[in-house]
Amino acid sequence: MCVMWENNSLAKRSDLNDLKKDRTSIGHVSTVFNDTSSYKYQAGSGGIRLEGVSKWFYRSQGEKVVALSQIDLEIPKGAFVSLVGPSGCGKSTILNCIAGFQYPDAGKVIFEGKEIRGLNVGIGYMTQKDYLLPWRDVLDNVWLPLQARGIPTKEGKQRALEYIKRVGLEGFEHNFPRELSGGMLKRAAMARTLVFHPSTLLMDEPFGNLDAQLKLQLQRELLRIWHQEKQTVIFVTHDLEEAIALSDMVVVLSGRPSSVKQVIHVDLPRPRDPISIRFEPEFQRLHKELWSLIDVTLEVDHEFH
Ligand SMILES: Nc1ncnc2c1ncn2[C@@H]1O[C@H](COP(=O)(O)OP(=O)(O)O)[C@@H](O)[C@H]1O
Ligand SMILES: [Mg+2]
Repeated sequence: MCVMWENNSLAKRSDLNDLKKDRTSIGHVSTVFNDTSSYKYQAGSGGIRLEGVSKWFYRSQGEKVVALSQIDLEIPKGAFVSLVGPSGCGKSTILNCIAGFQYPDAGKVIFEGKEIRGLNVGIGYMTQKDYLLPWRDVLDNVWLPLQARGIPTKEGKQRALEYIKRVGLEGFEHNFPRELSGGMLKRAAMARTLVFHPSTLLMDEPFGNLDAQLKLQLQRELLRIWHQEKQTVIFVTHDLEEAIALSDMVVVLSGRPSSVKQVIHVDLPRPRDPISIRFEPEFQRLHKELWSLIDVTLEVDHEFH
């Protein structure tokens, strides 16, 4: 296997440890996937609903930018849903509206039966640039949401340690963010998002700039945790294969002003291994279908003809 490293030697070393750790955890992962107890989300029961959501911004020169236009979307409780669409179409804006960081200019967001009117404390949000606090080690970063919720220190740190283990970071509890590789930072951010048992996870391109192997490993870890905890997940990605491998539904958004172009239902078996599922004929069919929905204009390079 050939892995290319770009960063400094510290990152190289820790990436390698990270990868070794990933490999050693594969045996455990496969035992989880051997458990074929069926898991299905509950349609129409207490999930998230966007009703006619529109959102616009004004640029500094005063120009109005309509990001979202009349978005109607039903996300069932416990479903794993991916959002795909061109850059700048409003994917992060949708997550921000669900998180209560931003408000729709028209329409509303209903979360577990109630309209969102303030900060939504029921969610775990892994934002696009999810920074850990540089002055805290991994344990204290993961503990932070529990500390903020007033959970007693001993209990909180115990739970943080449990989640550090779940994401495969055991042994790195007392490392600082600067000592971790890109993949390890993502794992720590994932643990921090999961540790307070949110009913819903919002994940904004969480594995976007990782190398292919690491990305697959983290997809595996995420699905394994999700199979156990059954949160509702809204996952933004540019990677169509990733969207199919993980999701129950893939929502395809159009370019700005963005609306829902199509919702693709992924009826592949669960529990699912995001690596081997790619070789299923149904996966290939869905992949083709998704590509046909994405607006791609590629200029022909005549040098190749
Ligand atoms: N706070 C803001 N002020 C001005 N424009 C914004 C703001 N947030 C987002 N936008 C604009 O709204 C559009 C959608 O943004 P975003 O949701 O970040 O897109 P995506 O996540 O799909 O790449 C973009 O054109 C972006 O420039
Ligand atoms: Mg974005």
